[in-house]
Amino acid sequence: MNKTETVTIYPAKNITGGVSLPGDKSISHRYAMLAGIAEGTTKLKNFSSAADCASTLSCMEALGCAVRRTGGEVEIDGAARKLRAPAAVLDCGNSGSTMRMLSGMVAAQEFASELTGDDSLRKRPMKRIMDPLRQMGAEIEAKGEGDRPPLRITGRKLKGMTYKMPLASAQVKSCVLFAGLFAEGETTVEETVATRDHTEQALRAFGVTVKREKGRATVAGGQRLKSIEAYVPGDISSATFFLCAAGIFAGSNVVFDSVLLNPTRAALLDVMTQMGMKLNFLKVEEQFGELIGTVQAQAAGLKGATIKGGLTAALIDELPALAAIAPYTREGIEIRDAKELRVKESDRIAAVAENLRRMGATVEEFEDGLRVPGGQKLHGAEIETYGDHRIAMAFSVAALRAEGETKIVGSEAVAVSYPEFFETLERMVER
Ligand code: S3P
Repeated sequence: MNKTETVTIYPAKNITGGVSLPGDKSISHRYAMLAGIAEGTTKLKNFSSAADCASTLSCMEALGCAVRRTGGEVEIDGAARKLRAPAAVLDCGNSGSTMRMLSGMVAAQEFASELTGDDSLRKRPMKRIMDPLRQMGAEIEAKGEGDRPPLRITGRKLKGMTYKMPLASAQVKSCVLFAGLFAEGETTVEETVATRDHTEQALRAFGVTVKREKGRATVAGGQRLKSIEAYVPGDISSATFFLCAAGIFAGSNVVFDSVLLNPTRAALLDVMTQMGMKLNFLKVEEQFGELIGTVQAQAAGLKGATIKGGLTAALIDELPALAAIAPYTREGIEIRDAKELRVKESDRIAAVAENLRRMGATVEEFEDGLRVPGGQKLHGAEIETYGDHRIAMAFSVAALRAEGETKIVGSEAVAVSYPEFFETLERMVER
């Protein structure tokens, strides 16, 4: 991140209107990477405007794929499985997805590469991908302390394997399946807790045969990928902030156009419904295995919720926003089994607890989560984003119902996933 910027959020009465969301970040990463190893030119519409996805595109360019971009329209010329040795270190910026998933692809190429990132990414754990890649025969070294980036990867011939994931991570699953495309024989990933399945869907979209059984996905090495033309569904993790904002004002009415409704990503919609939000689904369709639709959200006061186990994994990116609005719910929100939140772009458990307290809330912090009692009144405060986009957006939402103004210090972080966030929020709030 460059300079620290501050945005001031003033209390609001309501939130209304339509939102056109940037393309889903998770799907944009996967389509861009698979396009890079496919045959032919992939044409994508509504590609994510996130800085994270721009990092993926520039890495693919550095690996020899021509990329042409005009706003949300992106064309990528595929390298037909043979990427080119990068002339410089691959900069993944703030993006854990870029580093972890791309590692699987470059591990089997005929060259060495180095992947690095910003201060936040260089603090994130990489053992989770190094272990399975090494088991497949990869040569991979972490140059940072304690298996932290930069990663130095020397391309090797890989062998397929069956990998039982010790943690719930779609990035790890994707890394291993991507490596499996280049490995000898079959590669299977087993998960005990279901994670987002965009990689499995995207592989099929590009013509790869993926065998899917309960808790398992298998690919055979050596398969050819064919380019696609696709529209990237709106990012449901970005929609979350407006959904939560709508949830805390009785008269809110928000419509999300063409938003991703993949069941492995849409758990928030179930949770919000159980909490008392009224959701109407219009025009639901399927594109390349991904459900997409229009959703109208109307609030009428939120009850509380307990989020634990598999639900925590399904909601992992949505938890900061949910926790930030928890004081405004009737019974409050308890989140458990969420240790992974401590190794995201920031320690999101600590960041949420700290900022809620700055706003005057009572919070109980656990090693694996938080309990935030309901029925609390918050006041404006200075919010520390810790350079984390989701913390910046979550507390911009909490600020809408606080008394007095709130300063989001480090507001520029929103560009990591949603550069248009503040503009869109400003257009939708009624004061
Ligand atoms: C992502 C998976 C999740 C999520 C991240 C995006 C993905 O990370 O938090 O924002 O696109 O696969 P983990 O795989 O570390 O759980």
